Amino acid sequence: MLEIFLASIALIFVIRAISAILKEFRRPENFPPGPNWFLPFVGSSRYFKKLCQLFGGQHKAFDYLAKKYNSPIFSIKLGRELVVVVTTHELIKEVHAREEFDGRPDNFFIRLRTMGTRLGITSSDGRNWHEQRSFVLRQLRNVGFGKTKMEEQIHAELNEILDIIKSKKDIPIWPGESSLISTTGASSTAITIDLALMSMLLYPEIQKKIHKEIDEVLGENSEMPRYIDRNRMPYTEAVLLEVQRFYSIISVSGPRRTMKATTLGGYDLPKYTTILIGLGTVHKDEDYWKDPQIFRPERFLDENNSICNTERLLPFGAGRRKCLGDQLARAALFTFFVGILKEFSLEKCENALPSKDLTPGLMMSPKPYKAYFRKRKI
Ligand code: HEM
Repeated sequence: MLEIFLASIALIFVIRAISAILKEFRRPENFPPGPNWFLPFVGSSRYFKKLCQLFGGQHKAFDYLAKKYNSPIFSIKLGRELVVVVTTHELIKEVHAREEFDGRPDNFFIRLRTMGTRLGITSSDGRNWHEQRSFVLRQLRNVGFGKTKMEEQIHAELNEILDIIKSKKDIPIWPGESSLISTTGASSTAITIDLALMSMLLYPEIQKKIHKEIDEVLGENSEMPRYIDRNRMPYTEAVLLEVQRFYSIISVSGPRRTMKATTLGGYDLPKYTTILIGLGTVHKDEDYWKDPQIFRPERFLDENNSICNTERLLPFGAGRRKCLGDQLARAALFTFFVGILKEFSLEKCENALPSKDLTPGLMMSPKPYKAYFRKRKI
């Protein structure tokens, strides 16, 4: 009797193991198009790695696959993970809006970064994430996030930055280097400020217009710029929006995972499919922007010189999982940028212009460059 019992358990175990292995080979039914995989547990990982090396970064490999499969939604199997990439504004809007896409994948790398716990707000999902997100939001409100306290902190940091620049008197510096702009808490903010300053070397005529606007609006006022000043400085604001669109430092956002089996763009997605959001592709969509490869801040200004056209600019994502630091990042970006340009003019160093090609990574970042920060005579 015992033998029969043990044999049945063993049989069930074997059947389950075989069906799990078979599942690894099989493409789910009505799944978005994408490269086939022949190896279980590896999927198309090697092929994808080769594409990344060939094209210079994940986002470029994704652009290639989107074109190859001629589809705004496509799939790839990375290791055991079924990954679906969405690249159009319509589909991305849907992912941001629908609750079943609010999950975060539970994979080796996330666990590695969280000591096996997967507990941080950025990497958790379900009830745990809901509780953490509302807790963090409450705490941020209590410490004056988005209010004067935040502004005071930004001003203190701006003062430090200006002192460092002054101390380097006529020695060319790279803003991304050393501790110049690393105090904002998130490297994404520092990288964006670095790119905004770099753009002043690439487009001196834009720098002139910003200086003109700063002088007209802030004049001889010796006080620090305030975030609220952006309402009177539409050109500067438009330049900062264009920096975020043009460089799209978080080109592929998410990752998210489906919390239940669902559908998207006419395809079926099993529960726990990883979803990657191609923000960079939306920011460079030719049909919408017409000339996305050109750095042109005016695209964000209407005939009354007011900010417009921002609904497809999503550097911070959108929906319930939108970046929690977006207010701080926007305020720091504006205040630091205007604060530095109010006092200094950026000049290129020995005729060498910075490269517009960014270094790929979790976040795209500028290649090292140097600039002279010349004190302005106002
Ligand atoms: C220019 C600077 C920044 C950019 C471009 C940026 C962008 C993003 C993006 C694209 C996401 C993913 C949203 C999604 O899953 O759909 C995100 C999430 C997040 N960001 Fe930022 N971020 C910036 C600065 C900051 C700062 C300064 C903080 C902290 C004060 C911060 C805290 C967070 C947190 C906690 C999340 C996870 C939210 C969640 O999973 O519920 N970010 N950010």
